[in-house]
Amino acid sequence: MPNVFSRSSKPYPIAVRAEGIYIYDEFGKRSLDGSSGALVANIGHGRAEVAEAMAVQARSLAFVHGSQFTSDVLEDYAARLAAFLNLPGGRFWAVSGGSEATESAIKLARQYHVERGEPQRFRVVTRVPSYHGASLGALAASGMGARRELYAPLMRDEAWPKMPKPDPSLSGEDDAERLRTVLEAAGPESVAAFMCEPVVGASDAALAPNPGYHARIEDICREYGVLFIADEVMSGMGRCGAPLAVRLHDDVTPDIVVLGKGLAAGYAPLAGLVASAEVYRAVMEGSGAFKHGFTYAGHPVSVAAGRSVLDIVQREGLVQAGRERGAQLLAGLQELKAQHPQVLNVRGHGLLLGVILGDPATGEAYPKPGLAERVATAARERGLLTYPGSGAVDGTRGDHLLLGPPLSITADEIVVMLALLDAALSVTPV
Ligand SMILES: Cc1ncc(COP(=O)(O)O)c(C=O)c1O
Repeated sequence: MPNVFSRSSKPYPIAVRAEGIYIYDEFGKRSLDGSSGALVANIGHGRAEVAEAMAVQARSLAFVHGSQFTSDVLEDYAARLAAFLNLPGGRFWAVSGGSEATESAIKLARQYHVERGEPQRFRVVTRVPSYHGASLGALAASGMGARRELYAPLMRDEAWPKMPKPDPSLSGEDDAERLRTVLEAAGPESVAAFMCEPVVGASDAALAPNPGYHARIEDICREYGVLFIADEVMSGMGRCGAPLAVRLHDDVTPDIVVLGKGLAAGYAPLAGLVASAEVYRAVMEGSGAFKHGFTYAGHPVSVAAGRSVLDIVQREGLVQAGRERGAQLLAGLQELKAQHPQVLNVRGHGLLLGVILGDPATGEAYPKPGLAERVATAARERGLLTYPGSGAVDGTRGDHLLLGPPLSITADEIVVMLALLDAALSVTPV
C-alpha cells in the first residue's frame, strides 16, 4: 500500500530526472515542460551550479532561526534582489512559498496601519477572478469561486471587497478608476491595501490591463492612504519580460511586492516580499517587530538557491531572452489560433502566455471540466506539459491553458513546443 497522500485520485507518473526543458519519467518518456511546472522552473532543470551552491551552504550553515540570527547569504541576497528589482531601500522578507508570502503581505499591511495609528484599516481589496494562494487568508483574498467555495464558512467576506478584473476595452486609467468606486463603497478609511496580479496567472490566463492602469492604481491608493501590493509570485522575476510585470508599461513602485515561484526556480522552496523602506520603518520604529513569522523563513539553503538562480538569470540575460522567446511563442500561438477555431484568444507578456479555449459559435468558454483539460491531456500524451485552468468570467467558468516554458528555452525548442500543441489541438475539436 502506498503511503503518499496524493494530490488527487488519478495516477501520477513517477518523474526521475529533469534537464533543460525536459522532465523524464521512470519509463524514459520525456515531456517538454511547457508551463515550467506551475510557472516555476525559470532557468530550466538540472543546473548543477545551483545544486552545488545549495550543497556549499548546507555544509557551512543549513539552518538558523530568524528570531536568533540572520545569515550572510540572506543579507547578500536581499541586497542583490532589491537591486535587480530596482526597489532601492526595499526590505526582503523571505518565506517558503507564495501563499506564505501573500499571507505575510496582508498581515504586514494591516500591522502598518495599526502602527501608524489607524487601527480601523483592515480590509484588503482584490479582484475577481484572482489567485493569491491556498492558505486561508490568501484564499479569502482570492477571487476564485471554485477554489474558495468549500472554505467559505471560514472566511469573512466583508474583509475582502472585490473589484472587477481588468477590461482591455477600457483605457488603463478608466479601468483603474473602478478601484475608487470599490473603495468608496467599502469606506476608504477601513481599507488597508489593494492587491492585484499585474499579469493574471491561474485564474484568468495572462490577462493584463492596458498601459496607465498601474500608475492610476498607485495614485488612487496614495490618495486614500491604502497600500498597493503587487502579487508578482507568478509574473515577477523576469517571467513577463521584465524583472517586475507591474512596470511593463508604468513607472510605479508598489508598497509591497510579493514574489515566489521563479525566485529559486524550483530548486528550493523560496518566496517572499519586498516592503518599501517606509512600511518597514513604520513597523520597526513602532512596536519594533513584525507580529508574524515562520520557522523556515529565510532558510539559508533556499536563499542560496535563490542567489544562484539570480546569478544565472543575470549572467545569461534570461529576462531579455524570455522576452524574445515569448514574442516568438505568441506569434506561433496566433498562427495556431487561425487554424483551430476552438482557440478563442491568445495573449500575455514575455513567457507568461494564455490560450483561451471555447466554443467559437457562442464565443463562450466551457464550464469546468472542459476543453482545456482535454487539450492538456492530448498535449501530455504527445509529450508537452501545459497548465490548464478555469476560472475566467465570474471566477467559476471558463477554460484556458497557461503556457510558460523556462526562460532559457531556445528558438528551436519553441518550434517543437508549437508543433506539439498544434497536434494536440488537431485531435481536440470543440
Ligand atoms: C499570483 C499568485 N500568488 C500566490 C500564489 C501561491 O503560491 P504557492 O502555490 O507557492 O503557495 C500563486 C500560485 O499559483 C500565484 O500564482
